[in-house]
Order: sequence, then structure tokens, then C-alpha cells
Amino acid sequence: MSKHARDSFSSKFGVIAAAAGSAIGLGNIWKFPYVTGLYGGAAFIIVYLGFITLIGLPIMLSEFVIGRKSRRNAYGSFKKLAPTSAWKYVGVFGIGAAFLILSFYGVVAGWSIRYIFFSFSDAYQGSSAEISLFFSSLVKNPTEPVFYQLVFMCLTGLVVVLGVHKGIENVSKVLMPILLVLILVLDVRALTLDGAMEGVHFLFNPDFSKLSFDGVLVALGHAFFSLSLGMGTLITYGSYVNKKNNLVKTAIQVTLADTIIAILAGIAIIPAVFAFGLEPSEGPGLIFITLPNVFQNMPGGAVFCMMFFILLTIAALTSAISILEVIVAYFTEELKLKRKVATVLATVLTSLLGVICSLSLGIYSGYTFFTLNVFDLLDFISANILLPLGGMLIALFVGWHLGKYKVFREIAQGGTLKGQFLVAFMFLVRYLAPISILIVFLKGIGLLDLIIG
Ligand code: PHE
Repeated sequence: MSKHARDSFSSKFGVIAAAAGSAIGLGNIWKFPYVTGLYGGAAFIIVYLGFITLIGLPIMLSEFVIGRKSRRNAYGSFKKLAPTSAWKYVGVFGIGAAFLILSFYGVVAGWSIRYIFFSFSDAYQGSSAEISLFFSSLVKNPTEPVFYQLVFMCLTGLVVVLGVHKGIENVSKVLMPILLVLILVLDVRALTLDGAMEGVHFLFNPDFSKLSFDGVLVALGHAFFSLSLGMGTLITYGSYVNKKNNLVKTAIQVTLADTIIAILAGIAIIPAVFAFGLEPSEGPGLIFITLPNVFQNMPGGAVFCMMFFILLTIAALTSAISILEVIVAYFTEELKLKRKVATVLATVLTSLLGVICSLSLGIYSGYTFFTLNVFDLLDFISANILLPLGGMLIALFVGWHLGKYKVFREIAQGGTLKGQFLVAFMFLVRYLAPISILIVFLKGIGLLDLIIG
């Protein structure tokens, strides 16, 4: 690579592996099953799928278009495409969101690493009360989770420092196929348990009476979180994509991969939970409390338990890499730092905030904001506020600022494009996506009720 050439992805599979690696993460395996459990099962999934197709997919394509057209980081891309306007602040917003998300993300990923070893420990042999106690004391402990979080953050930094092709692309190309195999093994295990069908029924037979408006808001936020949208991750990755790649196809493949893995994760978890007479509505502790109980009661459970947490850690790693890359790309291109320095700085800063997040579940749990501790606050603000708003602005930017002609020119490189597709896409990014996000969002924070009485 010459001194000034930008690092980039080298193959189509590499692009998909990296982008799907970003999308498929804790969101799919930790959050999706538990929010589905909390908000009513199949009905929630249907709303979520609607958001994914009508809002998520067009915004993903928008991010790819912005990134590949500008060949810049999340902030620099807006600055390049709209030099004299305020659009660049959308990028600043995204980089801020990256800090917040990565800090609590690293904490959960740290628990996941801890649980790989848990499968073969005494704690795993305990009663369900003991397993639950194990989790709550781990989370509250002032040092142990911090240690694992830092291990995870170092791993993330190591991959990112190697660069886009050598680090991110190569690691994703190896890890994503392993992830698929692991999840399929766990699916077969769950589906062959006696009593698994009740869980399948919960996942696939909608009961809309169980769906609340909160559920709709969470489904929207989760669509953004799960597809890594709204903060410039896919702008950054898009900026490393070759002009020969077909962006529409890539966006569809990544969205499908993310959705399929979320459903497969649901199938690996929920039927097993039902088979052992447990409840799927445990919330964030579902995979750390309920699931170990499930594994404990099945033959070969310790091995499956370990496989599950390896799967979770891999998923978290390829996503965390993409979040860190948003910050590192910004630091190297805008602040002109060397990649090494930028990576160390970004890793240290996000880890520090992460330590506060971890401690907010234990010794700092007395500090709350709107009744939420720092950990829950960051999760709530980023998924339900920053990402949807960021996504809305990205859609508006592509729909109104770039406009039809420029969008067409960018999308048409690397693929043929039907006129009707473009019309539909422009309608979605100009009107449908921003308006629906606004409605759900205003309703979510209670403003809509105030406005319309
Ligand atoms: N998509 C990731 C997940 O599902 C999380 C993520 C959010 C990654 C935002 C990048 C940007 O876990």
C-alpha cells in the first residue's frame, strides 16, 4: 500500500463478513431473545421485521452510499459531501454514540468471557438460586468484571490496530463462519429437547394483544442497534468498499444475515427455556441466569454452555471492532493521529467509561439518572435515542441533500439498478423512514401525547 492510499476491504466476502460481523453481535444473541421474551414473542418479531425492511435496510444502504462516495470517516464524510453546512455534526453525534455504546458493550462482553470458564466451574453445578447469585455477584463485584472487560477491550484494540484489511477483514472472515456453525449446533440441541415446541410456538405464533407501545419503541431502537445503524459504523465500513461492489446486494445480504442469526439465536434459547419450564421474560439476565440453568439440565450441558459463550464472545468482538473503528478512523483522518496512537487512545478512553459502567452496577449503583444507573442509561440513550435520531438524519441527508441523481450514480456503480427501485428507495429515505422514526420517537419520550393531547 502506498503511503497515501486508504486501507480497504479486499474481497466481496470480506465486506460481507466484516459488515455482518458488525451487525451480528450482543444485539442478536443477548438482546433479541430477551426483548422478544419481554415484549410478547412473535408479535414483537413481526413489528421488528417490518422496521428492519422498511427503515433499517434503506438506512443501511444510505450509510454505504455516504461512505463509499466520500471515502471518509463518519464525520469527514459529511464534511466532504456537504462542506459548508451543519451536516457534519451528524458525524460528531455518531462518534459520541460510538463511545457510549462501546463502553457498556465491553462490560457485557467481559461477562461473556467470564462465562466461558464458568461452564466448568463449581458454580455451574449449583441450584438455580446459586446460578442467579453467581451472576448478580459477578456483576456487582468491583474488580472481576472490570478485568474481563479490559481483556475484551484489549482484544478489540489488537484487531483494529492491524488495520482494515489485515485486522478487521481477516479476523471477520475466520470468525463469522465459526459463529454460524456454533449457532446451528445449539439450534439442533434446543429443538431436539422434549417440550421445545412450546417455545417455537411462542416465537412464531403472534398474539398482538401482548404487544405494547413500549414494545414498538424497543423494536425500532433494536432494529437500529442490531443492524449497527445510526452512528456511522456502516459509513466507515462503506468507505472501505471497492467501487466494483454492488451496494444494494451487500445491504440486503447483511440485513438478511443479521435477521437470520437473531432468529436462530431465539431458536437456540427460547425453546430450551420452555422445555425446562422456565420463563423467557427474565430480561437482561436471560442468557446469564436462565440459560445456564437450561444447560445444566441437559446431557453434555457444560460443553454446550461453553460453546454458547464462545459464540457470544465472537459475536461481541466483531461488533466491538466496528465501533472502535468508527472512532479510530475519525482520529486518524481528522486529528491526523497514527493508527497505533489512535487505537490506543480510543481503547483507553472507551475502557475508562466502561469501567464506570461496570461499577455502576455495584459500588456506584447509588448514582442514578432518571431512575437509571449509568449502565442502563447508556444502553437506553444510545439504542432508543441516539441511533434512531442519527438514522433519521442520515436518511434525510441522502434523501434531500444528496438527492436522486447522486444517489443513483453511487448505487449504480458495481450493479445495475432498476428505476422503480430508486423511486421506492428515495420515497423511503425522504419520507417514510424519517416520519416513522419521529412518530415512534416522540411517542416514546411522551411528547406526542402532549402535542395531540
Ligand atoms: N449491531 C451490534 C449488535 O447487534 C451492535 C452495534 C451497534 C454495533 C451500533 C455497531 C454500531 O450487537
